[in-house]
Amino acid sequence: MASIWSKILVAGVVVVAAGAATAWALTKPDPYPDSRWAGLGAPDLASGEQLFWTGGCASCHAAAGATGDALKVLSGGRALPSPFGTFHIPNISPDPKAGIGSWTLAQFGNATTRGVGPDGEHLFPSFPYGSYSRLSAKDVNDLFGYLKTLPASTNVAPPHELPFPYNIRLAVGGWKFLYFNDRPRVELASADDKLKRGQFLVEGPGHCGECHTPRDATGGFLPDRWLAGGPNPEGKGTIPNITPGSKDIGSWSESEIAGYLETGFTPDFDTVGGSMVEVQQNLAHLPKSDLEAIAAYLKAVPAR
Ligand code: HEC
Ligand code: HEC
Repeated sequence: MASIWSKILVAGVVVVAAGAATAWALTKPDPYPDSRWAGLGAPDLASGEQLFWTGGCASCHAAAGATGDALKVLSGGRALPSPFGTFHIPNISPDPKAGIGSWTLAQFGNATTRGVGPDGEHLFPSFPYGSYSRLSAKDVNDLFGYLKTLPASTNVAPPHELPFPYNIRLAVGGWKFLYFNDRPRVELASADDKLKRGQFLVEGPGHCGECHTPRDATGGFLPDRWLAGGPNPEGKGTIPNITPGSKDIGSWSESEIAGYLETGFTPDFDTVGGSMVEVQQNLAHLPKSDLEAIAAYLKAVPAR
């Protein structure tokens, strides 16, 4: 995900070139109205926990190398290196000072689904809110409720080390204008409840496309290459194609795909590797029916 920073900046510059006043109107941070977050009632903590694992929050927000219960301590502190500087992942534990313990539901919801920080600033899309935008208000309420049950940490992450011009949060508005939405990534010919569930999980909280879909020169997903894989944006190797056209998983059955997501074993008894290891460990917390829904969706997307 790292090398999308230069592209986001290009997107910002492209939109700013449209004229400063128009550009501001089109690219200013755009939180939801407060009414969206009102009257949601008590969160469903079990649903919140499922969203936590599907969303892989711990893969970025827990300390580097955390396993087991330590994955639930969202102290931040991991460094996300990129060719343009280093992001330091923030603390989102319930500590009121170091974490998000004093945040309102609206602040949390706007950060997670609109990429707008507590002071009304654009957040960088290294936080995959471009996918999390598909969470409903109820989902956000459930997730926030669950996060509040996790241990607090007083760890303070250092500020991002992004040299000018990559530190310009305003430029993110250009990228959002061009690409940020909550529309379906693909139109499915027919979608029963299982497929719809799979589409939500993959395109939304699971944010599978953030790794598995290649991007264009301004940081948008290539529309005809959804989940088609490509060079690893973090530098080394490639990310596999996971559409039915893949030379690997194209031949896997739906239950073999679900089995891989549950156990980390391919049908040939290879084990999952690379950055997919943590994704798979998170997904192993999901009910079988959700893993089957993900597999059904991967079988239904256009073959690339
Ligand atoms: C791929 C890594 C990654 C994943 C996965 C991720 N985040 Fe983040 N998150 C970040 C980064 C990087 C930032 C800082 C963005 C910025 O400074 O603009 C961030 C910022 C945030 C913030 C704003 C914190 C602040 O102090 O401004 C919240 C809230 C948050 N994430 C919640 C979540 C939740 C909830 C999940 C899981 C559903 C999640 N994140 C998953 C990388 C990630
Ligand atoms: C952080 C990046 C990242 C994310 C997010 C991610 N993947 Fe992966 N995925 C990978 C990598 C890297 C591999 C290759 C693993 C290996 O080499 O063993 C992979 C492999 C796979 C494979 C096996 C493909 C093959 O040919 O062996 C499947 C299936 C898969 N991912 C599905 C998903 C699904 C479904 C999601 C979302 C719930 C997802 N991935 C999210 C990085 C990611």
